[in-house]
Amino acid sequence: MKQMNQTGVTVWFTGLSCAGKTTVSEAVAAELRSLGYTVECLDGSAVRQDIGKKLGFSKADRDENIRRIGFLAHLLTRNGIIVLVSVISPYNAAREEVRKRIGNFIEVYVNAPLELCEKRDNKGLYKLARSGEIKEFSGIDLPYEPPLNPEVECKTNLEKITESKDKVISKMEKLGYLQRFSD
Ligand code: ADX
Repeated sequence: MKQMNQTGVTVWFTGLSCAGKTTVSEAVAAELRSLGYTVECLDGSAVRQDIGKKLGFSKADRDENIRRIGFLAHLLTRNGIIVLVSVISPYNAAREEVRKRIGNFIEVYVNAPLELCEKRDNKGLYKLARSGEIKEFSGIDLPYEPPLNPEVECKTNLEKITESKDKVISKMEKLGYLQRFSD
């Protein structure tokens, strides 16, 4: 039987709301699965409906959200799963902590200008944040700290989704996380 000799890794997509984190990570997941890899996706919005249900958007709650997701990602990664995490994760220190904890870690900065994210506004939340109806919105009344040294930067205002996806896959290959099938 052919068996995938898979190395676990967490690929962490960070960026503003509507920057394209989920879109790019889903494209990466689809390609990796088509190649036979076992992939788990942890998306901020989904996780917040379950293990993050009672968390809000203060700095403390976001740090706790990232800590919980980091814990899960670590468990999966050390068992050989490729984990794709898509969360705003606006604070450098919290991201650095999960990087240290997990080890096999690739940080992808999904970078789109705030004006574009605001124009996309898929869920209408920027509008609510601008009018003050919701508070503590990243990029509006709370900061977003861009990664200082990300392994990959996807500029979703300039690149097609496939280009961003290819950048991530190439980096994973280059760092030795994508291997060949072995008998
Ligand atoms: S994180 O900062 O803790 O990493 P996470 O990615 O899990 O955030 O969740 C962000 C999602 O929650 C956004 O995509 C958005 O749909 C929703 N959301 C609701 N309120 C806020 C807010 N005040 N700031 C940011 N996102 C919010």
